[in-house]
Amino acid sequence: MARGRRAPAQPAPPLAIGIDVGGSGIKAAVVDVARGELVSERVRVRTPRPATPQRVIEAMHGLVVKLAKAVQLDPTTAVGVGIPGVTIDGIVHTAANIDGAWVGFDAAAAIAAALERRTAVVNDADAAGVAEMRFGAGRGHAGTVLIATLGTGIGTALFRNGLLVPNTEFGHLEVRGKDAEQRASAAVRTRRGLSWEKWAVELDEFLHRMDALVWPDLIILGGGVSKDGERFIPRLTVRPPVVAARLRNEAGIVGAAMIAAAMAPTAAG
Ligand code: BGC
Repeated sequence: MARGRRAPAQPAPPLAIGIDVGGSGIKAAVVDVARGELVSERVRVRTPRPATPQRVIEAMHGLVVKLAKAVQLDPTTAVGVGIPGVTIDGIVHTAANIDGAWVGFDAAAAIAAALERRTAVVNDADAAGVAEMRFGAGRGHAGTVLIATLGTGIGTALFRNGLLVPNTEFGHLEVRGKDAEQRASAAVRTRRGLSWEKWAVELDEFLHRMDALVWPDLIILGGGVSKDGERFIPRLTVRPPVVAARLRNEAGIVGAAMIAAAMAPTAAG
């Protein structure tokens, strides 16, 4: 390079840490939120049993220490956490698949204190939905889009013209006397050893009920099982188009990081 000339400075990518707390594992990564891409490996630990706030936060701490060793993080890099329960202003209100001690717990304050970072805590399906709408199968879709994440439970995220209606909790819709998630989650398929065909019938029933209530223009199915979408999506008979999520298992991490990065910076940074 000629003397005195410098390579143009590359602006640092906007980074945030995303953490997805699931019924079976806690996953985390550093995310470039402008591109919706992981810039670190995805680290994971099994969800502690019981999944009390204290034990889950300890596990998160371990994951963030690991990430900070791999990627140089600024102290102001925020952390976003998706929790499998209704979460309003950082406080968790329900806990179907985690310990009951989360109910009423100020998760945002406790996690911010433990990780010493600005923290946003949101519902896990809402986080996944936000990522899927921006970078995945929902990109560019206006109208009403319903995203359902099929995992230990069923999480839902509802968007109207790209705007999220948070904490919809349609997985707890009662279907023939039972929570829909107890009939049609991915965990139920494995636990009950259901064939794809039998499970698709359960899922279809739930989606028909959803259609009758919110009439979505598009349904996106997420969770790890979305990688096997071709095994069950063609069997569904519900009216709106149904597609598999594109960000798969990473949607929850990416979306939580996006939400954290979008928080207004505090005076402390
Ligand atoms: C919870 C939801 C969560 C979903 C997926 C449900 O049991 O009530 O808040 O989004 O599981 O984890």
